[in-house]
Amino acid sequence: MSETPIDPTWLAAVQDKLKQSARIVALTGAGISAESGVPTFRGADGLWKQYRAEELATPQAFDRNPDLVWEWYNWRRGLVAEKKPNPGHLALAALEKIRPGFTLITQNVDGLHLLAGSHNVLEIHGSIWRVRCPACGDCSEDRTNPLPPLPLCPKCGGLLRPDVVWFGESLDPSLLETSFQVAALTEVMLVIGTSAIVQPAASLAWQAKSSGAWVVEINIDRTPFSSQADAVLTGPSGRILPLLLDGLAP
Ligand code: OAD
Ligand code: ZN
Repeated sequence: MSETPIDPTWLAAVQDKLKQSARIVALTGAGISAESGVPTFRGADGLWKQYRAEELATPQAFDRNPDLVWEWYNWRRGLVAEKKPNPGHLALAALEKIRPGFTLITQNVDGLHLLAGSHNVLEIHGSIWRVRCPACGDCSEDRTNPLPPLPLCPKCGGLLRPDVVWFGESLDPSLLETSFQVAALTEVMLVIGTSAIVQPAASLAWQAKSSGAWVVEINIDRTPFSSQADAVLTGPSGRILPLLLDGLAP
């Protein structure tokens, strides 16, 4: 089966904008990790189709049945542990090297951007590789896999939870404030592999647009944001991002 060609005129237009811009932000969602084999949330085999989010990814679910919630996170940690960054993640890490003003805002909790070598990353939905103690607030990276069924805080003995944002919870206020600030100041925003429907993350694209940034959507499908984008590159991010970077190398 032949691959759908990526529109060369738009590709060149986006490259031109990137060449002219010092401040660039990428907002990524589950789609950027799809080519690494990490399931998205809302696709045909999406995680929220197979599981009821409210039974697993809420503070109430954790209070009711922490073993079940940890079993699910241990399963997801196991699934992601075998995955590697794909050319899309690597292209964004390369972009940071040639544009020090680049900021990556990700909704993903899989840690693949950091593994790819990106440093300036705002993980606004947290990370499955960090554990947090609600009792004493201690938070640390822990790549042990699997964690014990009910992992305990080394500092105070409290029950640890995954350091991710669950349904009904607020995002970290300072991370969110920084994200809105960089979105408001950026010249170009790349909105990559996100269904652009989960708030407040989706608003970051609208924030950039309304503050005058040139906003580019990279997705295999259209989203509620597509009609607002200045450019839409349709196709897998693991193909499009390396093509964009090719023309940018100093
Ligand atoms: P979704 O699963 O909602 O959307 C994934 C998006 O990626 C869709 O728009 C797909 O069309 C697109 N996509 C799939 N494969 C792609 C590829 N190879 N290249 C480019 N695009 C591709 O995931 P998110 O938008 O990230 O939150 O979901 C947002 C949040 O909803 C998640 O962070 C999670 C979930 O509830 C929390 O868990 C707090
Ligand atoms: Zn503790």
